[in-house]
Amino acid sequence: MSKLVWIDGRLTPRDQARISVFDHGLLYGDGVFEGLRQYNGRVFRQEAHLHRLFASAHAIRLEIPLNRQELSQAIDQTIAANALKECYVRVIVTRGVGALGISPIKCGKPSVIIIADGIELYPPETYRSGLEIITASTIRTPPAALSPKIKSLNYLNNILGKWEAIDAGVPEAVMLNHLGYVCECTAVNIFIVCGPELATPPEESGILLGVTRGVVLELAGACGLPARERNLTRYDLYNADECFLTGTGAEVAPVIGIDRRLIGNGAVGPVTKKLMAMFHEYVRRAS
Ligand SMILES: Cc1ncc(COP(=O)(O)O)c(C=O)c1O
Repeated sequence: MSKLVWIDGRLTPRDQARISVFDHGLLYGDGVFEGLRQYNGRVFRQEAHLHRLFASAHAIRLEIPLNRQELSQAIDQTIAANALKECYVRVIVTRGVGALGISPIKCGKPSVIIIADGIELYPPETYRSGLEIITASTIRTPPAALSPKIKSLNYLNNILGKWEAIDAGVPEAVMLNHLGYVCECTAVNIFIVCGPELATPPEESGILLGVTRGVVLELAGACGLPARERNLTRYDLYNADECFLTGTGAEVAPVIGIDRRLIGNGAVGPVTKKLMAMFHEYVRRAS
């Protein structure tokens, strides 16, 4: 059975799913998106993801032509049409078709696209063995220029960071902010374990406030692990006992080396293992 993609209310076979070359989402990256995940037949934290999507759209003056309930139904419809129980869901809202030139007032109606599929951010074996990552020289877009809270269709800043990872032969790169503090990786948030404490960069460092990051902070609280949102330097990463990444696509991914320094003893640490196990148990129970 061919996979079906939802485009503006119609389910279309994947190989026939098309948008116009005059859509400003394609021409200028003018649009927003969201990545959600269904576990055990339910979309995990759907409300938080839809809240972020609508907030991103509001920030760029893009009116989503569906309300939250309609969008939620469209997501369910897409997943059901593809007979999926566990999957990744991409919701995209573009500015729509318009004349050339960046002005958004040249566009007609925004388009909504929903794709339900699998996703594999890192090689599966690295969830057992751990990832080696690098620090990118490309800094994260400063919040004063473009808020990283907007999950826009323009990921060039992150893609440049990803190229640096690829060139270094590793799957991921840490991006620093304009002040030199650790921000996040190219499409995932970062945590370290230092002694008895979990630490992750704060909102003000210029991160996308990850839904998975929030869940991990909640799980840490539930198991009595102190967690702090604070500015981190590369020194803090290098000297951490453990490190891991979080994201809807990546879930909780362990890191065992950064910039050719071993993290801890170079093996996936006990706190990371515990949080990974808690996360997998929680998402299937609580979606
Ligand atoms: C830049 C960036 N940071 C962090 C994340 C992780 O966010 P979430 O846990 O909500 O998927 C994403 C997810 O796509 C992202 O694009």
